[in-house]
Amino acid sequence: MVTTDLFGIHEGKEVFLCTLTNKAGNVIKLTSYGARITWIEIPDKYGTKDNITFGYDTFEETREGDKYFGSVVGRYANRIAGGKFSIDGIEYNTPKNNGPNTLHGGPEGWHSVVWETEIMESSKAPSVKFSYVSPDREMGFPGTVKVSVTYTWTDDNEIIMDYSYSADKKTVVNVTNHAYFNLHGAGKGDILDHEVTMKAPSFTPVDPEMIPTGEIRPVSGTPFDFRTPHTIGERIGMNDEQLGLGKGYDHNFVLDNREEVAVTVFDPVTGRVLEVITDQPGMQLYTGNFLDGSQKGYGGTVYKFRTGLCLESGHYPDSPNNPDFPSTIIKPGETVRTRTIYKFSVR
Ligand code: BGC
Repeated sequence: MVTTDLFGIHEGKEVFLCTLTNKAGNVIKLTSYGARITWIEIPDKYGTKDNITFGYDTFEETREGDKYFGSVVGRYANRIAGGKFSIDGIEYNTPKNNGPNTLHGGPEGWHSVVWETEIMESSKAPSVKFSYVSPDREMGFPGTVKVSVTYTWTDDNEIIMDYSYSADKKTVVNVTNHAYFNLHGAGKGDILDHEVTMKAPSFTPVDPEMIPTGEIRPVSGTPFDFRTPHTIGERIGMNDEQLGLGKGYDHNFVLDNREEVAVTVFDPVTGRVLEVITDQPGMQLYTGNFLDGSQKGYGGTVYKFRTGLCLESGHYPDSPNNPDFPSTIIKPGETVRTRTIYKFSVR
């Protein structure tokens, strides 16, 4: 079942809040502002339900609060070095909103626009499609891009995210979802005890500006080796150059098993499990190293340092400037479809 409420008005446009309830009686909420996931309420191993993602009670707080909680990020998720890149010899400049770099599509990227809302009545499970037309040169990027994301909340507690985009000029696109997860329940302590397994044989090390150096480095023998389960906290404090640069984990992992489970996160306290399945080549693991307690979400809950983690499936950061990385170029006439699934269960 899907119910829709008016959440607020942004720049004269109505912003909706959609509540999706599956047959198991579990609820997620989505808003058309930034095509965000704002609420994921699922049981723990004792059957006790809790919301495990970050968000705010009101639209005004959502808009004024952290830019990326639960949002779709685009046109280019993660960083573009120096706020510039070239396509066919033409240089494009994008706003520098993260030191010298462009982060997450620029200050007014897709996280901050109102998407069209469509309830997918024909879907068996509750499903909502958000669409947006991004004009030519929006945040400096070439070409008009038509993008949509369809969220389906299955009876097996999976959030299926189906993205689709096309452009009328050659351009670059990299979309992701920026939900923060705390499997204890959002606001209930940190995520250092969350146990992560990630089928990533290598990662892309960064320079001091958090831009990939171009190297694809094997994880073997490093604190980035999650091929067997490790808690986030186990090695995050190690004296390691890359952990120092990211202030913790804030790195793109190179996946080798597309369309299977790329990452499993297990909370030993509640037994909650999150699996991420994706067809994308990369996965940014970000452990909330820049959360500083300044954001107060639901019921005044303070989101402190490392109390949430993000698993951002997508292309590698700064691919437009790295010809050796999988290409993010999209040509006119092409439609790219990608799928990422967040699947919740208990153990
Ligand atoms: C980036 C972090 C950044 C955060 C902002 C993540 O995707 O990797 O470096 O601080 O987004 O919310």
